[in-house]
Amino acid sequence: MSYLEAIGIHKAYGTREILKGVNLKVEEGEIVLIQGPSGVGKTTLLNILSGIDLPDRGNVFIEKRDITRMNEDERARVRLHKIGIIFQSSTLIEDLNVMENIALPLKLAGKRWKERVDSLLRYFGIEKLKYAYPPSLSGGEKQRVEIARALANSPRILIADEPTSNLDDENAKNLVELLLKIREDMETLIIIATHDIRIRELGDKKYTLEGGILYER
Ligand SMILES: Nc1ncnc2c1ncn2[C@@H]1O[C@H](COP(=O)(O)OP(=O)(O)O)[C@@H](O)[C@H]1O
Ligand SMILES: [Mg+2]
Repeated sequence: MSYLEAIGIHKAYGTREILKGVNLKVEEGEIVLIQGPSGVGKTTLLNILSGIDLPDRGNVFIEKRDITRMNEDERARVRLHKIGIIFQSSTLIEDLNVMENIALPLKLAGKRWKERVDSLLRYFGIEKLKYAYPPSLSGGEKQRVEIARALANSPRILIADEPTSNLDDENAKNLVELLLKIREDMETLIIIATHDIRIRELGDKKYTLEGGILYER
C-alpha cells in the first residue's frame, strides 16, 4: 500500500456531486500536482485527504490506517503529527508574532519548541522576522512562515492549496524551488492543488480533476 491512498472518494454538497470516485496513491517523497479550473473540487479533495472533511463514500489511508474511520480526535492527532497544510489564504494568527505562530503546532503536540523554531527560521531564511507580526509581512514572507509552521512537527505529508495564487512570477518561482528543496531535505511527500498554469510542469505525477474524477496526464 502507498503511504497515502484515497480510494473511491465521493462527495456531494446537497444534490451536487463534486467528487465521483476519486482514486489517488502517493508514495513517500513524491510530489503530486492536482490541476483543474476553479470550482472543480480541488479544495474539497484536499480537505478530505487531510481529514479536515469526511467523504460521503470512500476511504483515505495514511500509513495503512483509514482516517475516515477515525473519530474527530484521532483525525486531529494524525493531522497534527503527519500532515502539514498550507491553506489558500493566510491562516497566521495576527496577534502572535512569527516565532509564536510557528511554535503553535509544537506546543499543541507537547514538544519543546524554542530550538525547533530557531532551526526552522534559519532554514527558511526568516530569522530577522522572528518577532514580527503577520500584518507587517509581505505575501512571500507570510507564506514562508506558513510553510515553516506547517512543517514544525516534521510531517511526512505537506498539502498546499493554490500556493502560488497570491505570488508574482519571481515569488512563484522561488516557491517551486523551496518545495523541491523541502522534499529533498525533509523527505516529505507534497500534494499541490492549483489552477496556476505557471506551475503546470511541477510534480512527479500530474493529475487533472475533471467531472469529479482524477485523471493522470
Ligand atoms: N461547504 C460547501 N458547501 C456547499 N458547496 C460547497 C462547499 N465547499 C465547496 N462547495 C462548492 O463545491 C464546488 C467545488 O469547490 P472547491 O472544492 O472549493 O473547488 P476548487 O478548490 O477546485 O476551486 C464549488 O462549486 C463550491 O462552490
Ligand atoms: Mg480551491
